[in-house]
Amino acid sequence: MHIGIIMDGNGRWATRQGLPRTAGHREGAKAVYRAVEAAARSHIDVLTLYAFAAANWERPRSEVAALFALFRRYLQAQTSRCLARSIRINVIGRRDRLDPELLEAIEHCEWATSRCDGMLLRIAVDYSSQHALISACRHIAHAGSLDRAAFIAAMDAANHAAASAPELDLLIRSGGEKRLSDFMLWECAYAELYFTECMWPDFDATVLQAALQEFSNRNRRFGRVQEPAGAGHA
Ligand code: IPE
Ligand code: IPE
Ligand code: MG
Repeated sequence: MHIGIIMDGNGRWATRQGLPRTAGHREGAKAVYRAVEAAARSHIDVLTLYAFAAANWERPRSEVAALFALFRRYLQAQTSRCLARSIRINVIGRRDRLDPELLEAIEHCEWATSRCDGMLLRIAVDYSSQHALISACRHIAHAGSLDRAAFIAAMDAANHAAASAPELDLLIRSGGEKRLSDFMLWECAYAELYFTECMWPDFDATVLQAALQEFSNRNRRFGRVQEPAGAGHA
């Protein structure tokens, strides 16, 4: 099972408490540890976390710098936790605009956890689904053929995805907004969507369990007609 999470609401969480937005991001990083632990305990195969959208570069420079500093510290700390739980890390998104020190930290944690065979933890940084789609189209145009598998491989390459992940089963967005914000537009084709008012810094195992519980009650039809139980073919 593949879960994606749009981790939204750090800024509002902080503002409501009279704190600077960066305090919300710091608290949000703690929620990331909780979410990863809870997903691994629930035997999720792939967890993709939206950490920084390509559009987030438009935020004030100080906020962007604080986010990237946090992210680097997070990666360093998360690597040993992931090794202990056999979680493999893959940072997806663009890499051409990242600071060389951050790139080094990314390559290190991906290398260190590359043999882990438990959950695959994908962290989307400088990620834009539209950018990946356009890159894949460019690649395919040069290759001269349009084949679904080749297209997906080209998108994975644009995203630096180490291994092809299945499409999303469940998309969770915290923070109360009901939109995708350029996250996994292709992979969400048949995802179940779950929106929670919980601000990301408050996210924990209980919120994840509530989402999983609702998911288990959804009726996924993939365009087909559901046959009543026990009905045979006419
Ligand atoms: C999500 O929280 C974190 C990132 C986008 C990096 P926000 O910073 O978007 O928080 P709100 O939506 O302003 O509350
Ligand atoms: C989406 O949140 C991006 C991440 C959670 C990383 P945003 O806060 O940037 O999205 P919008 O601006 O509300 O659409
Ligand atoms: Mg937001």
